[in-house]
Order: sequence, then C-alpha cells, then structure tokens
Amino acid sequence: MNELNFTKGLRKYIEYYKGLDDFYLPFFYWLKNNYPIKKVLYPGSYTHITTSLVFPEVVYVDNTNSSEITFKDKNTRKFINRYKLYDKISEIRFYLTDYRKIPNEKPLSFDLLISISAGFISTTCGKYLRKGGLFLSDNDHNDAARGYVSNSYELIGVLNNIKSSRHDHHSKNIQENVLFDEKYFKRKRKEIESSSEIQFISTDLQEFFQPKIEPELTLDMVEEIMEKSPSKLSYKLKKKADLYLFRKLD
Ligand SMILES: C[S@@+](CC[C@H](N)C(=O)[O-])C[C@H]1O[C@@H](n2cnc3c(N)ncnc32)[C@H](O)[C@@H]1O
Repeated sequence: MNELNFTKGLRKYIEYYKGLDDFYLPFFYWLKNNYPIKKVLYPGSYTHITTSLVFPEVVYVDNTNSSEITFKDKNTRKFINRYKLYDKISEIRFYLTDYRKIPNEKPLSFDLLISISAGFISTTCGKYLRKGGLFLSDNDHNDAARGYVSNSYELIGVLNNIKSSRHDHHSKNIQENVLFDEKYFKRKRKEIESSSEIQFISTDLQEFFQPKIEPELTLDMVEEIMEKSPSKLSYKLKKKADLYLFRKLD
C-alpha cells in the first residue's frame, strides 16, 4: 500500500489551499468539462497544485524558494495520484524561476494559461498559449483587465462561485483526518462533478470592464497597478467576477 503521509511540502499546500476544499477546484473542473484542455501552464503558482487534481499535464512556475518544497515532496505526488479526477498518469513540471524566463517549454504549446494574483501573465507568458487557447485570470493584479484591453485576447465569459467566497478559503479549518478519509473524498468528488456552484456568464461582458465614471478602460488605467495598490487606482469598475475567461486570438 502506497501510504500517504502529511509531510512538510504537502502540508504547506493543504494548509493554505485546502486540497479538495480549494475554492478554485470547481472552476478548474468546470473548465475541463467544457473545453478540450490538455496542457496547462500556471506561472506564479506558488504551491497551488490543485490544478493537477483536474488536468493531467501541468507546468508550474514560481520564483519563491519556499514553494519548491511542495513540488519535491513525494507525498504531494501521492496525494495527487490518490485524489486526481482523471484516469491518466499525472505529469507535473515545476520550475523555480522567474516566469519571464521559463526554460524548456515550447511557445504556442499550451491549451490553458492560468493567472491568479501573480502579475501580468497575459503579456509575459501569453506566447506559450496556442492560438485559440484559453487564458483564465482573476483581476487582483489587473491581469484580466490587461487581457481585456489587449488585441491578443477575446473575453468569452466570466465565472463566479455562487456558494463560497475566495476571500475566506485560505482561513478555513480543515482537519487532517477528514482529508484522507474515503467518505469525504467521495462526497467532495460528487459535489465537484456536479459543478453546481459555478456560474458562467457570457453576455454583456463589457460591463465587467466598464469604469464607473470614465467612458472606457484604457491601457494606461490598467497599468496604474504597477505603481499603486488596487485600492488606490484612479477608477473603479462597475462589476466584478471571481475569474475571467479569454480566448487567445493570435
Ligand atoms: C500572491 S501569490 C499567488 C499564488 C497563487 N497563484 C495563488 O493564487 O494562490 C503570487 C505568486 O507569484 C509569484 N511570482 C510573482 N512574480 C513572479 C515572477 N516574475 N516569476 C515567478 N513567480 C512570480 C510569487 O513568487 C508568488 O508565489
């Protein structure tokens, strides 16, 4: 029996992202169900290996030294193998490096590019995404807005989790014994597979990037984030979503 232990690297992931209780897991599952996605690139991933519970081939990139421990931990691999929601073998590559200089990965070779609170990934890593590939982003660092004002992406929808908020998922309490319990896994799996908490909106999308006062969002406005914190920006947008989904045009 391949025993799973709660060692330091896996613990780092579970304590922060909560494993099967991860806020992002139902989103990833919904995407996989709705689009043909094989290869995924997640720059600025930190230790967020939830993606590998849904997609068999994921490349992670982060330049924070402390993120490496999760990827090096054998129990992380065991955790993924035990709880992954697909039959194929899981393939994971992790690069401890600046995502502006990713080694060994071919341009135009990924089906999905993920950007969650980690800077302007749409511009720095967009070259790895194939034409027609998907760019999934939040707007914490204005990367969704950057995608919106770019000629390289078309906004195709926004996604919300209607049952939970992403602002409290890191602080949830998860008990170790529950995590490795088969009943818990079956219940969670059912919940995730039903995708009942995911709302996808694909109409009137321009409203999400309409400033409250100014006539329209410009690149200069989007780039203010490089010098100011999100709360100090000179404008506010009318509407918000948890995640924004784009298709790459070129
Ligand atoms: C706020 S964390 C978000 C982590 C994860 N995406 C999440 O949603 O929990 C931002 C991460 O991006 C990484 N990061 C920022 N700039 C980077 C760069 N130029 N190259 C590689 N990683 C970077 C940081 O090291 C950090 O781990």
